[in-house]
Amino acid sequence: MRGIFIAFEGIDGSGITTHSKLLKDRLRSRKLDAIYTKEPSKEAIGTLIYELLMGFYPSLQRNEIYALLFAADRFHHLYIKLPGQPIHPEQGERGLRGVLHYVRDGSIVIMDRYKYSSIAYQTTSKEAAHGINLGDAGEDFVEAVNMYAPPPHILVYLDVDPETAYGRIRSRRGLQMFESAEDLERVKARFNDIILGRLMNTPEYCPGDNKPWLKKLRELVGVSAAELYPGGICYPVVIHVKETPEGKELEEELVSDAIYGAVLVAASEIGYRVDGAILREAEELYKQHDDIVKISIHRR
Ligand code: TYD
Repeated sequence: MRGIFIAFEGIDGSGITTHSKLLKDRLRSRKLDAIYTKEPSKEAIGTLIYELLMGFYPSLQRNEIYALLFAADRFHHLYIKLPGQPIHPEQGERGLRGVLHYVRDGSIVIMDRYKYSSIAYQTTSKEAAHGINLGDAGEDFVEAVNMYAPPPHILVYLDVDPETAYGRIRSRRGLQMFESAEDLERVKARFNDIILGRLMNTPEYCPGDNKPWLKKLRELVGVSAAELYPGGICYPVVIHVKETPEGKELEEELVSDAIYGAVLVAASEIGYRVDGAILREAEELYKQHDDIVKISIHRR
């Protein structure tokens, strides 16, 4: 096993940015090579997405357009360039590395949002700016345009009460016109369906060579699925974090402890080598918080 690819998902206001950054800091403080990165990116396509999210370009306010742009931003991010990475013109294209090159080379890459956000958000119709309804892009379409996005090794799902999430967004940055508690409820229901209802219960194994992303991985990153996914396990281990059990908010540090412990325990279970003392500490933290954090691992 080389590096680890971890994705954080959850509704707006669920704390994914806070907790993915805290995880990166904690891993680094143990001298592990952890990198934090975020979707949408701050590269050209991501910047266009932020403009759309702010309500510019009324004619582009369709979930099909969002799905295509997020998928383009994601492809660039995964295979071509990690945002913030300098371009060395003298090295040409070869000077660039995407998320998957870093994972290949041993880094722990933490993605703040990933393709499950596209599946949840772009299949939830809602009123955007100018009273335009974004429509529902349809799950088949979203899956199709994301065919080159491989599964992460670990998916951390922050399960937060929509009311709490709504309160946090409101106090943080004032209300954006297209965020309402009802929208959050509906996106949350989609996340629950996709992650808790499906991913956790119907594991997917790499079926030979016929996944489109396997070909792209070989072509652009130069690795086989077996090198990146030991045991041919091509589905994410899900870490389900109940951040607001019974609607009650928990302390940030407690949740961060739970996530850190669970991530290292899960990483070790799927073959990433974790140093003995670090693993023991992680197991202890995971055990202490097993009421709010659960790891779901399917074995063959
Ligand atoms: P967010 O993480 O909230 O960005 P910021 O913290 O910078 O405001 O992401 C922006 C929005 O984009 C958020 O509402 C979720 C949405 N989104 C999608 O609709 N589809 C996607 O594929 C992704 C990654 C995000």
